[in-house]
Parts: sequence; structure tokens; C-alpha cells
Amino acid sequence: MSKPIAVLVGSLRKESYNLKVAKVLAKLAPSSLELKIIQIGDLPLYNEDIDAGTPPAAYTRFRNEIAACQGVLFVTPEYNRSTPAVIKNAIDVGSRPYGKSVWAKKPAGVISVSPGAIGGFAANHHLRQSLVFLDMPTLQQPEAYFGGVANAFDAQGNIAEKSQEFLQQFIDAYSSWFEKTR
Ligand code: FNR
Repeated sequence: MSKPIAVLVGSLRKESYNLKVAKVLAKLAPSSLELKIIQIGDLPLYNEDIDAGTPPAAYTRFRNEIAACQGVLFVTPEYNRSTPAVIKNAIDVGSRPYGKSVWAKKPAGVISVSPGAIGGFAANHHLRQSLVFLDMPTLQQPEAYFGGVANAFDAQGNIAEKSQEFLQQFIDAYSSWFEKTR
């Protein structure tokens, strides 16, 4: 049976390149993994007051979906040399209530995606800082900084061969490392 892997996409834009990349990864993933894009755009900004008692339905839905997955892939843009707030908010929601984090021990992979030349390097590494604290073992190699993404898709949404190869290498490496790590 394939193992469910949560995919968090750090952009809410309809035509998001990160979303396109996440969908390509889902197609390229080996049959042993089932990549599931988990919605994060409806999560209220994390606030301990609203989390006390009965949490917002979106928090509960999100926590249950992540808990049901065995690994997590983060596909993130870079906003102002860091991770977009939407992805950090999702991380914060999943980390609470205290002692009941849904993240601990789940093998993680990070790919940053940007039209820029640096490929979201800073976002990629800021995100990794949180993953250390959340006790998520994280794929180290290959590092995945997908730069120049605006040139990687044609008008029909097809991805260039070289970019597809890059994503194939990334997901294959995540898959074999995931099997050893989980
Ligand atoms: C950006 N962008 C950007 N790009 C980058 O490489 N480094 C950065 O620090 C930033 N900062 C930044 C801040 C904000 C608020 C926005 C909206 C954008 C550009 C960003 O990479 C570009 O908009 C991507 O297309 C965003 O990813 P999606 O939405 O296409 O997935």
C-alpha cells in the first residue's frame, strides 16, 4: 500500500509556480508514495485564545490530515528572504496543543521554488530551522533550490525536460531516504 505524504504549498495563488511544482512531484512520485496536497489557506492566524476549548474546525481538519500522513514535503516560495507566513502559520497550528504536535518524527523534504536565480535558498533554510525544533528528520541531499521557474513551464503548463529530471531526482531521493528513515 502506498504511504500518504502531506504536501504543503507555501503559496495561495491560483497560478502558483509552487503549486505547479507540487503537482508535478505528485505525478513523478514512485507508486510507494501518495502525495496529498493539504490545504493551509483557510487556517486562521494562530492564536492560543481561539485554540482553547473547541479549536476552529480548520485547525482540527488540518491536524487530522497531517496526523494521517507518514511524511511531509514542503514546497515553498521565498517571501522577503524567508518563508511565507502561510506556511509558518500552518507549522504553528500543527505544533499545538503543547505536547501534541503532529510533526514529530515525520520525515520531511524541502524544495524552494522561485523565478529568481537563488531559488529561494533563504526560505528553504529558514524553514529548516523550524524543522529542527519540531524534531522532523529532514532530507539533506540533494538540496533543492528551484530557480528560474518562470521559464520552466510552457503556455500549456508542461514542464521542461531538464526541470522534470531535477524534480524526479529530488522525489526519488526523498522516497528512498523516507523508507530508511520512517
Ligand atoms: C516575493 N518574491 C520573492 N522571490 C525571491 O526569490 N525572494 C524573495 O525574497 C521574494 N520576496 C517576495 C515577497 C513577496 C511578498 C512576494 C509576493 C513575492 C517573488 C516570488 O518568488 C514570486 O512571486 C513567486 O512566483 C511566488 O511563488 P508562486 O506564488 O508562483 O508559487
